[in-house]
Amino acid sequence: MAEVEEILEKDVSRRSFLKTTGIGLGVAAGALMFGTGIAGAQTQGGTVAETPLPYADLDPEEARIRAHAAYFRAGCAYATFYAILSMLRDKVGGPYNQIPLRMLGYGRGGAASWGTLCGTLNGAGAAINLVASDADTNKLLGDLIGWYTITPFPSQESDNVAAVKGYTYDAKEYVTAALPTSVSNSPLCHASVTSWINKSGFAASAPERAERCARLCGDVAAKAVMMLNEWKAGAFVATFKVSDETAGCLSCHSSDQIGKMACTSCHEPH
Ligand code: HEC
Ligand code: HEC
Repeated sequence: MAEVEEILEKDVSRRSFLKTTGIGLGVAAGALMFGTGIAGAQTQGGTVAETPLPYADLDPEEARIRAHAAYFRAGCAYATFYAILSMLRDKVGGPYNQIPLRMLGYGRGGAASWGTLCGTLNGAGAAINLVASDADTNKLLGDLIGWYTITPFPSQESDNVAAVKGYTYDAKEYVTAALPTSVSNSPLCHASVTSWINKSGFAASAPERAERCARLCGDVAAKAVMMLNEWKAGAFVATFKVSDETAGCLSCHSSDQIGKMACTSCHEPH
């Protein structure tokens, strides 16, 4: 995993540079780091366009590494947004240098620790919407959310990345062991974290729980990048379908409620 260390080395030096300025990471970035990207499309200092910004193929495994590490700086929503945006800064530059990386920080813990939409999805969704049209964002993010609700996390791939010693350089305690997995059956932070707590036996305050969420950041950032790469190649096909049970509920309840979440995670069937 020499590659992991290499990526982090780059990431850490970026971070120490910003640290020496005495301002937090994202805050300084927009103001100080003007890139010389390829597809800049806009000049520095102008108003950033409202149309989707240029996207360039990104490496999902690098996104996984960056998101995992970034979780320990400012939480889950920051982490997935940061992973994608910082890579777009490196590869495309231009307008991405003017978007503050700290922007999605509010999404941590399901928005200011309210346990609503999982921050990993919030951060990835914001990044997706920067590059894709609204209609494509609905398709991509809709599929990402669906995938999230049925996938066991954290993945083996994220376990492997976390096993690199000293990887989580901002964490007080390093958790490098493989972790138990759980399926959220919901896009809500509350349901996702709580089902993992039930399954694993670790408390919300345990370093293992934080590490689980960090690895989840890696999993969601990597998946979002894979989907965006496919989308850019014109090869993206949405695959998520609601369960038969939920489809049954929706056959009668499509006009008196909104959503596709698994209905029986909150309601008794009748
Ligand atoms: C065959 C049609 C049909 C299906 C299928 C169906 N419902 Fe209903 N549901 C109704 C009707 C009719 C009512 C009562 C009218 C109303 O309150 O809108 C109702 C009421 C409800 C209510 C309000 C109950 C209350 O106490 O006011 C909830 C919540 C609900 N359904 C959830 C579900 C869920 C979850 C499913 C799937 C597991 C489901 N429904 C499947 C027709 C259906
Ligand atoms: C995260 C929890 C949650 C999920 C998931 C959820 N609901 Fe609800 N639902 C609620 C709450 C809370 C209310 C408002 C309080 C109430 O009426 O029970 C509500 C209200 C409703 C009502 C109106 C009930 C009434 O009193 O008229 C219907 C119908 C309903 N939900 C159907 C569904 C269906 C169908 C699904 C799946 C597509 C679903 N819900 C998923 C929490 C949820």
